[in-house]
Amino acid sequence: MAANIKGVILAGGLGTRLKPLTDITNKHLLPVFDRPMIFHPLEKMAEAGIKEVMLVTGGNNAGDFLRLIGDGRSFGIRRLQYTYQKGEGGIAQALGLAEEFAEGQKILVFLGDNIILDSMKPYADQFRKQAQGSMVLLKEMHDPKAYGVPVFKGTRIVRIDEKPTHPASPYAVIGAYFYDPNVFKIIKTLKPSKRGELEITDVNNAYLRKGRMKHGILKGPWADAGESLESWFAANLLMRDLRQGK
Ligand code: G1P
Repeated sequence: MAANIKGVILAGGLGTRLKPLTDITNKHLLPVFDRPMIFHPLEKMAEAGIKEVMLVTGGNNAGDFLRLIGDGRSFGIRRLQYTYQKGEGGIAQALGLAEEFAEGQKILVFLGDNIILDSMKPYADQFRKQAQGSMVLLKEMHDPKAYGVPVFKGTRIVRIDEKPTHPASPYAVIGAYFYDPNVFKIIKTLKPSKRGELEITDVNNAYLRKGRMKHGILKGPWADAGESLESWFAANLLMRDLRQGK
């Protein structure tokens, strides 16, 4: 299998959890400290050595991404493509739109509202060597119940619960996922969840059932800037620390 990894950044949705900030713009265009949120995933792709990226947007203000980011070269991206997700079909449905772009290669999927301070390069290098399957990244948290939460048997993840009332472990599955090309076959088998969306957690559970998922644990801080106004605020503080080299 080719060692090349392509990037997919998911930046759609209506951002209802950040209302009223998102009433007149896309969540990923909001500032996080000194830059628009969407700059962060583009920088993380470049850091991982990924040169070809597809940005999936949706909802309102899709044209603003083109005005803001252009061809992506100022971020070190050689080939940037855009596509548009109609409706609110979920993260996995949005990812499905990147099938042709992926051209049968491995991908790193980055949720556009995740702020990660760890370098993505070691994780990408590890996945380049991985023969097949997937890799998710975890962050230890005091209370992960707003996220996907892994259930462990020993050191092995056996299942991921999406937004569980009683988390089985103190970890959140963060929004950076490495997949082999089988991901697109898996997406086609998914059924909408209770919130009417194709869930990325269902994709990950399909890999787990086949025993084809590895995981890494983040050392540095992480924030999901789209989860709530509080977490958006926390992401701003985190980005300030990053800029100030703390
Ligand atoms: C999504 C995923 C969840 C993951 C989170 C990370 O949640 O469904 O498993 O932990 O991203 O940011 P959502 O943003 O859809 O609530």
